[in-house]
Amino acid sequence: MTGIYPKINPQSINANLGLKQHFDLTKSFENDHFGTWSKLAREELFWHKDFETCFSQKEYPFFSWFEGGKTNISYNCLDKNLEKNSQKTAIQFINSNQEETNLSYRELHQRVIQFSNYLKKLGIKKRDFICLYMPLSCEAVIAMLAIVRIGAIHNIVFAGFSATALAERIRDTKSDWVITADLAYRKGKELSLLETCLEARDESDFKNIIVYNRSGNCEISSLEKSGLKFYKFENYLSEDFTKDSIEWLDAEDPSFVLYTSGSTGKPKGLVHSTGGYSLWAKLSTRWVFDLKENDKYWCTADIGWITGHTYLVYGPLLNGATCFFYEDAPDFPNKNIFWQLIEKYKITIFYTAPTAIRTFMQWQKDHPITQDLSSLRLLGSVGEPINPKAWKWFYEVIGNSRCPIVDTWWQTETGGIMITSLIGVDDMKPGKAGRALPGIEVFTDTDNKLYIKKPFPSLARTINGNPARYLNAYWNNEHKAYLAGDSALIDEDGYVELQGRIDDVINVSGHRLGTAEIESSIIKAPHVSEAAVVSIPHEIKGETIIVFAVTNGATTKDEINEQIKDDIGSFAKPEEIFLCKALPKTRSGKIMRRLLKDIGLRKFPEGDISTLEDSKVIEALIEVVKQQL
Ligand code: PRX
Repeated sequence: MTGIYPKINPQSINANLGLKQHFDLTKSFENDHFGTWSKLAREELFWHKDFETCFSQKEYPFFSWFEGGKTNISYNCLDKNLEKNSQKTAIQFINSNQEETNLSYRELHQRVIQFSNYLKKLGIKKRDFICLYMPLSCEAVIAMLAIVRIGAIHNIVFAGFSATALAERIRDTKSDWVITADLAYRKGKELSLLETCLEARDESDFKNIIVYNRSGNCEISSLEKSGLKFYKFENYLSEDFTKDSIEWLDAEDPSFVLYTSGSTGKPKGLVHSTGGYSLWAKLSTRWVFDLKENDKYWCTADIGWITGHTYLVYGPLLNGATCFFYEDAPDFPNKNIFWQLIEKYKITIFYTAPTAIRTFMQWQKDHPITQDLSSLRLLGSVGEPINPKAWKWFYEVIGNSRCPIVDTWWQTETGGIMITSLIGVDDMKPGKAGRALPGIEVFTDTDNKLYIKKPFPSLARTINGNPARYLNAYWNNEHKAYLAGDSALIDEDGYVELQGRIDDVINVSGHRLGTAEIESSIIKAPHVSEAAVVSIPHEIKGETIIVFAVTNGATTKDEINEQIKDDIGSFAKPEEIFLCKALPKTRSGKIMRRLLKDIGLRKFPEGDISTLEDSKVIEALIEVVKQQL
């Protein structure tokens, strides 16, 4: 199905960014690119001190936006909304037991001030890194907003990462502080986040830990770990909320760092700014999700990923919206829970991932969706290409052929959405994300590599502690443009069709994983001398991991799985592991991964294999795969 879906939805007529506004804005960017950014920045954000320069680039590729300006993202999310929206619900949270917590803008503001006072009292200063290893909760959102309020920098590590992965991310930021919860509830099980943090302490040397008592039974006074100080999260509630410890930050001061996989074994800590990030989080949320006063907006991402940062927390709050979120999994306590929540809480905007959509499609066969989803008016997708079959199901079954779908392409690095179809402007073309948003220009080179032409306000400023890697990984010398790492086709209307990564990054259920990261874990398993990880397409997960491990002893697949679980987390578990004696390599020693992909797909390797050092390896591998069937 490649047809164009019309702009059937009457709401598109009143879209925040309708045809006329879009036309005017695009013209304005064409006529005066930086003047337009300056105007938007002044209109959208509160500036404690106005900026002097819109954009400057001193040493390529490093750049800054809104220099001289002082602002604060937490202030823009909270204080700026108090006048109009103080009684409005800012966050509505449903926990695993279906208990509801609502915090109005006024209440959230007070809590954030209290928590920021608490952090200050504990000695946390501007520019200190604080690692968050938290379940999805109001407390996590409060912590995020309080950290940025005092100019400290949050580093959120998804709570599914292992102790080793957590420790690596803590070490990389040299953080003295961790905020966690005693446990997280997931599908009726308890995951001890605190225990994982204490294990991570053996491989890092943070000095302080703040523990949120999620279970209600956590006694930190009984905890001990040499040189580690424990603090109760809940103590913040006795702080004064009339005394504000806000720090006015330079627009270029970092707001947060978030780690993501790249093509080496070491994850990259992308550093995001304060001013530019805030501006784009706000604008892109309002334009793409068409947020209106009475919307109830649900983004299903976890705060441990960039989608949770920008479109669960910062973007909607900057716009004074009501953000809805749910603590547990989409199949807990039952496989219809998401639809029950949409019905009960009258969700109007629902933003999720293709892997979830494909899973829902499967479930629906045995668990018919009988709920009333008529409150929905807009659907969103992110994280990987949404295949036309899943698109059609989402559109027809969930959206009742009424709700437009915004397929949003972006990355941890871009901070916010770059490409989509805007409901008031563009037709939807299933399978194609859409066009670049105003102010953003994309192009492809002759190899179909996708680039973004100029630095834009929300682009990550550097890789923490490694500017050289930032330059090498993202900035193409020939085009002097940002290299996204994706392959894409752009049609005559400017619609971008994403075709997957061009580097060794794979996307399993919307989770970005570096093959090198998984390989360096596997070779730690007993008797494994070498490993190659490739991905093959998967009906639900988009892509899935296949491992070829060279063993010279009695390694078991369980040992390899265990090692990956220890180093990265269970979510990186391979679909298949093949134990073999050698990998196919070129004479220069490079592993020929395309051959492994073919073998994983049970295909006889195609194409030129004349560069192979030893062609017998292929036959041996095919034998290994056959035996496993
Ligand atoms: O390959 C693209 C894919 O996800 C990558 C970015 O992953 P991450 O930094 O984890 O951020 C995910 C959430 C923004 C991209 O390089 N990707 C993301 N959105 C889409 C997508 N691929 C196709 N279509 C999308 N809508």
